Amino acid sequence: MAIPTEVGVERFFETSTWLDRVAIPIQDAVRNLFTRQGNFGLKARNFLNGVWLGHPLHAAITDLPVGAWTSAMIFDYLGLITGDRRLNRSADLAVGIGLVGAIAAGLAGLADYSEIEGESRRVGAVHGILNLLGIVGFALSMLQRMSRDRSGAIPLATLGYLATFVASDLGGMLVYHLGTEVSREAFITGPEQFVPVLPSDQLREGELRQVNANGTSVLLTRVDNQIYAIDNTCTHWGCSLSEGELIDKSVKCHCHGSQFALDNGSVINGPATSPVATFDVRERNGQIEVRKR
Ligand code: FES
Repeated sequence: MAIPTEVGVERFFETSTWLDRVAIPIQDAVRNLFTRQGNFGLKARNFLNGVWLGHPLHAAITDLPVGAWTSAMIFDYLGLITGDRRLNRSADLAVGIGLVGAIAAGLAGLADYSEIEGESRRVGAVHGILNLLGIVGFALSMLQRMSRDRSGAIPLATLGYLATFVASDLGGMLVYHLGTEVSREAFITGPEQFVPVLPSDQLREGELRQVNANGTSVLLTRVDNQIYAIDNTCTHWGCSLSEGELIDKSVKCHCHGSQFALDNGSVINGPATSPVATFDVRERNGQIEVRKR
C-alpha cells in the first residue's frame, strides 16, 4: 500500500507541468551534447544506456555510490563516537569510491534522461539535480577531509547523503511506478502455435506492416524476399515500430531512434536496451503465419 506522502509526491509530479520549463531545456542540452558528436556520440550513448549489457547501465552502477556513501556515514559517525582513526580512514576511502561511482552513474543517467518524456522527465530532472547536490556535498566533504577538517567534512557528507537518499527514492519511483527503462513488451506474449496474419501477396518488399497475431501487435516485413516478424512494440517507450524506418535488415523506431535487428530482435542502437521478441514465420495456403519464437 502506498503511503500518503508517496501518493502526494506522485500527484505533485503529475500536475507540476511548470517543471517542464526546467526539465526540457536540460534534456535538450544533454541530447545535443550526444548528437553533436555524430557517430562517436551515438556510440557513447549506446555504451552509457547499457545496450552492450542488455539492460540499463545506470541501474547497475547506482549501488556503488549509494553503498559506499552509506558505509562512509557509518564509519564517520562511529569514528566520531569512538575516536578510532582507522574508521576515519575507512570513511574517507568510501567517500572517494562513492564519488567515482556517482560520476559514472550520473553519466549513464544523463544518457537515459536524454530520451524520456512527460512525467518521467520531470521526476528525472529533480532526481538528477538532487544527485548533483549529493555529489557536490561529498566532493566538498572530500576537500575538507584532505585538509584534515572532520568538523566540516561530516556535516557536508551528511547533507550530500540526504540529497542522495531522496534522489534514490525518486529513482525508484521512475522505474517501479512510471516504468521508465522497463521493457515495454515485458508483459506481452504471443501465439505459441502458428496463426495466419496476412495473405502472402499483400506484403510488398520493403514494406513495414503491422498485423495482429491473436491480440499481439506484430511487425511484418519482407527483405530480399525473406519475411521477418518481430514484436511491433518498441521496448524503449512503446512506440509502434511499423511507423519507423527500414534500414537494411533492421528497423529504426521513429520516436527516439532505437534500432533493432530483424533476424533476432537484438538492439543495434539505443536508447532501448532490451531486444524485441521475434516470431517464427511460414507461408501456408497463401497466408503468412507467425508464432512466438
Ligand atoms: S519508443 Fe523510444 S526509441 Fe522507440
